[in-house]
Formats: sequence, C-alpha cells, structure tokens
Amino acid sequence: MIDPTKDRVLITGAAGAIGTALRQGLRTGWPRLRLTDARPIQNPTNNEECIVADVGDRAALERMMEGVSAVVHLTGAGADYSLEDLFRINVRGVFDVFEAARLGGVQRIIYASSNHAFGCYPIEERVSPDMPPRPDSLYGAFKVYGEAILRTYFDRHEIRSVSMRIGTYRTLPIDQRSLATWLSPGDVARLVDASLRHPDPGCSIVNGYSANTRIKASDHNWDFLGYEPKDNAEDHIEMLRAKGVDVDGPWEWPEHGGSHAQAPERRAR
Ligand SMILES: NC(=O)c1ccc[n+]([C@@H]2O[C@H](COP(=O)([O-])OP(=O)(O)OC[C@H]3O[C@@H](n4cnc5c(N)ncnc54)[C@H](O)[C@@H]3O)[C@@H](O)[C@H]2O)c1
Repeated sequence: MIDPTKDRVLITGAAGAIGTALRQGLRTGWPRLRLTDARPIQNPTNNEECIVADVGDRAALERMMEGVSAVVHLTGAGADYSLEDLFRINVRGVFDVFEAARLGGVQRIIYASSNHAFGCYPIEERVSPDMPPRPDSLYGAFKVYGEAILRTYFDRHEIRSVSMRIGTYRTLPIDQRSLATWLSPGDVARLVDASLRHPDPGCSIVNGYSANTRIKASDHNWDFLGYEPKDNAEDHIEMLRAKGVDVDGPWEWPEHGGSHAQAPERRAR
C-alpha cells in the first residue's frame, strides 16, 4: 500500500516528455516526489527533490532509493538510439534501477513499457495483456525483458508492479495510428496515479492508451486498477484533417506496432 500523504515516489527520466507530464499531473496528490534524470530538471516545485545522475551510476541509484516507497521508471534511450544505447539504458539501466529499488526496500515499481511489446500482432486481432508478448523490434523485446524482471521480483520478492504498455504519448494525436494509440498528458498521470494508489496491483501489465474511439485492444486491467481515461483522440480529428492526415481512409498499419521502432542491429547478409 502506497500512501500519497507519507510515501516518497521516485520518478526516473523525469526531465523527459512523460516525466514532465507526470510532474504536472501528480503535483496536487503526491507531496513527496524525488526526480532524477541525466539532464537537469527545470523549475522544481515544493513537492520535488531533484537528482541529476546517469542511470549507469549504480552507486547514485542506490543512494536515491533511500526512503523511497515506489519508483516510476521512465528512463529510456532517445529516438536516435544505437544498439549500445539500448543495452546500456534499456537493459543494464532497467536492471540497475530495479535491483537498486529491491535492495532499497521499494514496495512498488511502475514501468514505462511499450505497445511494441505486442507490436507483431495483426491489427485485426484485439490484443489484451493476457496474450503472450510479440515484440516487433529489439526495443520491444527489451521492454518485455523489463516486464519479465518485474514478474521475477513479484514472485521472489513480493514487489508489486504495473508495466504500462504505452502507445503514442504526445500532447495531441499526431497521425492516423495515434487515433487508436494516443495517450494524453492527463491520462498518463491518471494511469500512474491509479497504479500507485491501488492497494495491491500484484504484477500487472496494462495498455497505456487514452479513451480513444478507435482503440484496437482490450484491457480488463483498466477496471481492475481503477484507471479512467478522460481524453479521446477523436476529439482532435478536425485538427488532424486540417493537417492533411488521412483520418477517413483505410487503416494504414497492418500490425499493432505500426511503424516499427528503429532496429539498430546489422542487416543479415
Ligand atoms: N513517448 C512515447 O510515445 C512512448 C511510448 C512507449 C514507451 N515509452 C517509454 O516511456 C519512457 C519515457 O518516454 P518519453 O517519451 O518521456 O521519453 P523522453 O526521451 O522524453 O524521456 C526519457 C528521459 O530519459 C533520460 N535519459 C536517457 N538516458 C539516460 C541515462 N543514461 N541516464 C539518465 N537519464 C537518461 C533522458 O534525459 C530523458 O529525459 C521511455 O522509457 C520510453 O521508452 C514512450
């Protein structure tokens, strides 16, 4: 049980896009936030304590877990990642954050996974987190690895977790696909808030979408967690139409992953 009035929550990757939305969205309900990122975190408020550190600095990670009850792990390799970045940040970094959390007595981990964890399912198939993962890239496979470690930490160490398979996090929807996969700033905060407040989420995997009319997945964990998304990409359809996005034509992507995350491994001969 995480108590918002007393418990401290650490957010990693807090200077990023989702971290910035969470700072805004959790501000009123969570008076004790600790934020970390390799980049400086701008304009901390009274409820925020900031630590600039690289996720590769294991000693710093262990220090920052002191007095922390829950971790929201957002740190991830940026858009132009190399294979080395993926190993360093999305594999070793995930392990070091989770392991430092375990050693520090953290009770709950909320993890930024991705819909690339099931990106190879055909779009006609209504995917739920109960189905086996089908990652569409190394990026997606490493997100599944993070989910798998959290399963071990639940079974072996009773650490509760929620892995959020985030779709398209943006301020507004950006293309036809995001009419199905958009996750708004308000809704990502609602999803993290519900995941932190739930008395016992076990080891859950949940789709990170807003309440989009065109959603192509189902998820009973929304009800289980008490996640009630309020935004709908469809409300922005005129904005997309005005930008020349084909919002009325046939669905552009044959698979759930849409445009595959970059695959930096070398091509086979
Ligand atoms: N934005 C999306 O649509 C989306 C979709 C699915 C999953 N996700 C996942 O959600 C998480 C957050 O996404 P975002 O959009 O906010 O990304 P972002 O790139 O805006 O933020 C990531 C943050 O991680 C930090 N970081 C990177 N390398 C670091 C290192 N070595 N040490 C410490 N900090 C480091 C960066 O400085 C950055 O602030 C990522 O793990 C991403 O894979 C995002």
